Amino acid sequence: MSNACTIRVDKLLSSMGYGTRKQIVQLARSGRIIFDQGEVLDATVRIPFSADLPRRLMVEGRPLDPLSGMVIMMNKPVGMTCSHKEAGALIYDILPTRWRRRTPAISTIGRLDKQTSGLLLLTDDGTLLHRISSPRSQVRKIYRARLARPLSGTEIALFASGTLTLKGEGTPLAPAVLEEISETDALITVTEGRYHQVRRMFAAAGNFVEELQRERLGDLCLPDDFAPGQWKLLSKKEIALVFQ
Ligand code: URA
Repeated sequence: MSNACTIRVDKLLSSMGYGTRKQIVQLARSGRIIFDQGEVLDATVRIPFSADLPRRLMVEGRPLDPLSGMVIMMNKPVGMTCSHKEAGALIYDILPTRWRRRTPAISTIGRLDKQTSGLLLLTDDGTLLHRISSPRSQVRKIYRARLARPLSGTEIALFASGTLTLKGEGTPLAPAVLEEISETDALITVTEGRYHQVRRMFAAAGNFVEELQRERLGDLCLPDDFAPGQWKLLSKKEIALVFQ
């Protein structure tokens, strides 16, 4: 087999977090790496690197994990942090443990703060991550906020003005859209991702956000029955919705 479009089993599996090269050798020796429903593989063998590998390669009795280029949709629970290394509960704890050891690493596309829940995307595709999070892409982020005090009526104009500058910042926010749902509930659409942006916007309007949830990114939303902590891989079609 030529080296074009092939990969060594130990290199592939260690980059996917299955273990060190040494551990992969042990796995192979015990006959737990199987190709095309029968061929027991040696760790040093090269196999074709193609999109159908997760269907063709079994590791410890299970199909190979998704190859790199994955996009994960998660319903982030309140109380978990979007960080690889902070103390406390991290959103990466929700995913399979070995996914923490993958190269390229899986990272969140933007962040939700610890007390914010809802739609969170993660990927190991750096180009896509940049495309979605760059303010130039103008991806709409839609949040539902529950407020401590009734809306005053001035927020729609203030947020839409393009002149609101948050405390400690020098550049005004891009115009944002506020839709009143009730006296103390609102939908807010922003195209930037500044630090604690929505909470700080309401603070600038003299209010306080008690609960915050991200409902949509572009036209992509969480399925109705998606519980906090639930996640799934997205198809190309679903990813495209983010840019609509
Ligand atoms: N705005 C916030 O205040 N928090 C988030 O997590 C996202 C937007």
